[in-house]
Amino acid sequence: MKVVVIDLEGARNEVEIDPTLTLMENIKDSGVPILAMCGGGCACSTCHVYVDPDWMDRLPPRSDVEEDTLSQSGDVRPNSRLSCQIRPDESIDGLVVTLSEDTRE
Ligand code: FES
Repeated sequence: MKVVVIDLEGARNEVEIDPTLTLMENIKDSGVPILAMCGGGCACSTCHVYVDPDWMDRLPPRSDVEEDTLSQSGDVRPNSRLSCQIRPDESIDGLVVTLSEDTRE
């Protein structure tokens, strides 16, 4: 299972997914730079990604806590998600996400 991560330089990175980890942890382990300052605690918004709109309906909706944390970001869009709140499974094999400026290290 793979996810395509478009990094801050615009490069497409194919990230092999370990389903026991969150999307943020998978991105970090792949070596693609992502700040993820709070380590997955849903408290910082520095793991903020934009999900390709074609994939939005395959993800469960944002929780209230995710919604609150995302509001710290300067550029929230309808397809904004915190990657530490996404638990990958087979249904999102091939998902495409673009890192937001919030993830810059
Ligand atoms: S890593 Fe901090 S909110 Fe996701």
